Amino acid sequence: MLGYDILETVRASFENRSGLLQFCILASVWLSWRILKFTIIPRFYPQDPKEVPYWIPYFGHAYGFLSHPHRLLTYGRQYIAGPNREPFVITTLGVKSYILTNPKDVGEAYRNTESLSFDIYLQATMRTLGSTESVVKRMYTPLSDTKSGFPNPQNKCLALLSRDIHIHQLFPGENLKILGTKLSGWFDKHLVADVIAEERSYTALRGNDVVIPLMKFCSDMTTSAGQEAFFGKKLGQREPNLVRDFLEFDDISWQLLLQYPPMFCRDMLAAKDKICHALQRHFDVPMEERASEDTFFVRTMETEMRQLGLNSEDISILMMTVYWGLNTNIRRTVFWVLAHVIYTPGLAEKLREETKQAFSNDGTLDFAYLSNNCELMDSIWHETLRTAASAASIRFLTRDTDLNGKLLRKGNRVMIPFRQLHYDKGAFGDDAHEFKADRFLKNPSLNRSPSLRYFGGGSTMCPGRHMAKQFITIFVSVALHRFDLELEGPQPFPLAQEESPSLGVMASMGPDLMVRLKPRKLDI
Ligand code: HEM
Repeated sequence: MLGYDILETVRASFENRSGLLQFCILASVWLSWRILKFTIIPRFYPQDPKEVPYWIPYFGHAYGFLSHPHRLLTYGRQYIAGPNREPFVITTLGVKSYILTNPKDVGEAYRNTESLSFDIYLQATMRTLGSTESVVKRMYTPLSDTKSGFPNPQNKCLALLSRDIHIHQLFPGENLKILGTKLSGWFDKHLVADVIAEERSYTALRGNDVVIPLMKFCSDMTTSAGQEAFFGKKLGQREPNLVRDFLEFDDISWQLLLQYPPMFCRDMLAAKDKICHALQRHFDVPMEERASEDTFFVRTMETEMRQLGLNSEDISILMMTVYWGLNTNIRRTVFWVLAHVIYTPGLAEKLREETKQAFSNDGTLDFAYLSNNCELMDSIWHETLRTAASAASIRFLTRDTDLNGKLLRKGNRVMIPFRQLHYDKGAFGDDAHEFKADRFLKNPSLNRSPSLRYFGGGSTMCPGRHMAKQFITIFVSVALHRFDLELEGPQPFPLAQEESPSLGVMASMGPDLMVRLKPRKLDI
């Protein structure tokens, strides 16, 4: 009744009164809403995390979140969360997210697999990518423990079993070694000045040197190598534009992550479709003709999915997420590592010295040595991810949950933005905002800090982390041993693209960094 009366008053005043009066009425309705929502109601619910106030109902902080998420979250942490970093709330387009920036809350959230669900988010992403309801249902239906194929003693559904299959492929062991051998073989062949200039039309030979746009080059090289190592050579031969289409998609793929309405992300969806169609043509080729080239993971997942009755189109949509996860962060991490090496005097030489034992005279590369025995490389790896990772873990609340005394209500999201933790001076010191190549070398225990979360946490912690490190250390070491890397003319250190929400590691902003690769006399 009250709502109706207010509306009636507003309507009547619009008809009868002057514009000023209409404005005053609207302003007082709006002011009452704001005082009620952000001042009065919170007093009755002290256990609920405080909300960052906004001006426009429903839209909330949509603009701030899309235009500069880090700035918005920093504001919330500083002015709403307070010194104890209590959880706070941000609303965007009617969706309420609890933001966690205290490592204790974060640890507890990652441990809570009962009421904080990752799978609801994954299912929504599957639907946005084009999976039908029937495919989502089949992927989430528990399977028998006596089924053929990959062992399933806990009756998991295939969506959950795929984590075990990932681990089998990507954790240290025989399958990871196979990937390492394929990757080092690929870089051995393609990371050569003449070959680069011949194969990559956007590079230019200058005498014996080759000039490259660094971000484009790292993206193209690592995606091509990753694709071939995981899916075999024939995929690239059959689909020569796949890498280009993927990079086009990946630059705007955060629109998918935020589940934009289709009319606002047509370019991203078109690029996504091209990738799926290319993968579909690949999976249409009889399995026996591809099996020797596919990794254990691809072979096993395809077999499992076919057993569920999925066709090549269904499989291509699900494998597209694998292709995406495999390639999206590696290319950006390699870029930032090389950019820091180029801009830090003496760093390249120290890395060459440290890694030279991994190279043998017969041309083989001991990639396990690179991952496990090179402390400076290890420190740069952690520091690059600490400073450049800007994604967030996202969970859905399936019931009301107490988190260290605060009540998080069912139906909303929990978000753990990594940068708010990685730039915490309490955890990493007053220079936390700076890149220090030897930070983790001087203080190795930092890599166990609960504030270091670039791979997420809990049962969904990135299963690709060992492979990612192996991949990146191979690429960086081979590049440094083959070339001196110099800036092609003075250029400022690239800025990170903080404005767009990110899936992991931030891209760089502005013109690409032009770098000259000068072949070195091989010392190995
Ligand atoms: C520097 C490189 C990488 C970074 C920074 C990274 C980061 C992440 C993050 C933050 C998550 C979400 C974890 C969570 O919210 O709990 C994740 C999940 C995942 N990542 Fe990575 N990742 C990287 C490389 C890779 C690679 C190379 C692969 C595969 C070859 C991969 C496969 C996956 C998969 C399959 C998941 C989902 C896990 C699940 O559903 O349980 N990642 N990654």
